[in-house]
Amino acid sequence: MMVRITINGQMLFVQRHTPVLQAAARQGIVIPTLCYHEALKPYGSCRLCLVEAHRNGRPRLVTSCNYPAEDGLVVFTDTERVKSARKTALELLLARCPNVPQIQRLAQKMGIKTSRFYKKQDERCILCGLCVRACEEMVGAGAIGFAGRGIEKHVNTPFGLQSDACIGCGSCTYICPTGCIEMVGEPGPSAHRKIRISDPDLPPCGQEHRCETCTTNQQFIEEMKEVIRKVRQVP
Ligand code: SF4
Ligand code: SF4
Ligand code: FES
Repeated sequence: MMVRITINGQMLFVQRHTPVLQAAARQGIVIPTLCYHEALKPYGSCRLCLVEAHRNGRPRLVTSCNYPAEDGLVVFTDTERVKSARKTALELLLARCPNVPQIQRLAQKMGIKTSRFYKKQDERCILCGLCVRACEEMVGAGAIGFAGRGIEKHVNTPFGLQSDACIGCGSCTYICPTGCIEMVGEPGPSAHRKIRISDPDLPPCGQEHRCETCTTNQQFIEEMKEVIRKVRQVP
């Protein structure tokens, strides 16, 4: 069902529940993102894609990557409130990851020189969840996830133990925009490879990806690299 929405004063018709981010892109409106990838379910964690949505007369800040279009929705992507909220989100990331190039470039674009927040850490992981979703949704392995809470939150295998679920396909390393996950071992479809995330070393596939049901092959990886390459580009 088509619905009518308005973005920055421009009216358009989109399929009901189209994410506002996608609707805006059709109008040529660029909204910054860090945790969004068109091939994966939206996660809504970085909050860089905030926009102001007016429904039933009430304005709210919402994450546009997972906010669905409904009839009569009015959206503003560039108000002072939106810009201020995005800056705060980025300052939090800058405090956590001051040396990550993507964060530095976005900060420069937004005119942020330093973070107001306590700079306790020097992390490379921006907690975008792209690796976790790629492993779950694209590969179907579900070998990694988030562990810990607050400033302790990080990507890991279940309970930090070695995971047999990891097939060593390397998708998480390709999609990670900051290079937090490394592949260890020889490249190639049948090589013994494993990923390294912080402490645990995951074991390589014991069957060298030769099982009939194995979806890991070089073509798969190359296709995935092509789809994923975009995520490395700062909008
Ligand atoms: S290398 Fe392992 S953890 Fe990474 S996407 Fe593939 S199966 Fe998942
Ligand atoms: S390891 Fe990389 S892809 Fe995964 S959450 Fe952290 S920054 Fe994102
Ligand atoms: S792109 Fe929407 S919250 Fe990250």
